[in-house]
Amino acid sequence: MVRNRYELKLIRESGKIATSALKKALQSVKVGISGLELDKIAQDEIYRLGGQLSYKTVPGYQFATCVTVNEQVVHGIPTGQKFEEGDLVSIDLAVEYRGWHTDCAWSVLVRGKGKGERGKSGKEKFLQIGEQALGEGIEQAVEGNRVGDISSAIQSRVEGAGYSVVRALVGHGIGKKLHEEPEIPGYGQKGTGMILKSGMALAIEVIYAKGTPEVILQKDGWTYAAADGSWGGLFEMTVIAGKEKAEVLTYNL
Ligand code: MF3
Ligand code: CO
Repeated sequence: MVRNRYELKLIRESGKIATSALKKALQSVKVGISGLELDKIAQDEIYRLGGQLSYKTVPGYQFATCVTVNEQVVHGIPTGQKFEEGDLVSIDLAVEYRGWHTDCAWSVLVRGKGKGERGKSGKEKFLQIGEQALGEGIEQAVEGNRVGDISSAIQSRVEGAGYSVVRALVGHGIGKKLHEEPEIPGYGQKGTGMILKSGMALAIEVIYAKGTPEVILQKDGWTYAAADGSWGGLFEMTVIAGKEKAEVLTYNL
């Protein structure tokens, strides 16, 4: 839905809070810290800036963030499990500010103090590709393009590097609710789907895995993990589609 100037102002404010919370949580990632501790850091920052927890609008969900580690891909419940050097950690969070939602996620490697590079090989490149795919998807969020242009840009980058886009979960419109129309898959055909208009708020997501695209739901009933046990990555930003260029609301990491 196209948002007016007043609505966009509030969505931008929401995006600033989400950015700040995600940044704080990401900066805190280190050996020995847990997802629950990161969740607390993000939550405190959201409240400090006058925001609310958008994920609490999802029935049954109680956290500020989703945190996924290694083979987990998306919707991870933050746990007390401490991170180890070389772990691949993704933090996903959304904010509600005066009724307006923004959503963002980022993935990082847990770095150790020593020179030990355990588990690092290949993960750097895996993360680089996800970030690049998100950037290329966002570039397509301009008036007159279609949703499929975003999808196909993401898919080409991810598959071009030999990884897969997870099919089970998708990006989405956002605004008055966390999830709105249209769905924005990270896979699809150019020139298909809804025509984008300037002023639409979109949560563009790259949800991908190193191996096959299949995911399984873990025992907690929330967390999706790569079925083949490979790695999962997550990059998401909320943007406003523009006439010439998308405005990224949650990017300043
Ligand atoms: N961040 C997810 C999304 O982009 C939503 C997580 S919902 C939760 O759609 F309930 F798992 F938090
Ligand atoms: Co989302």
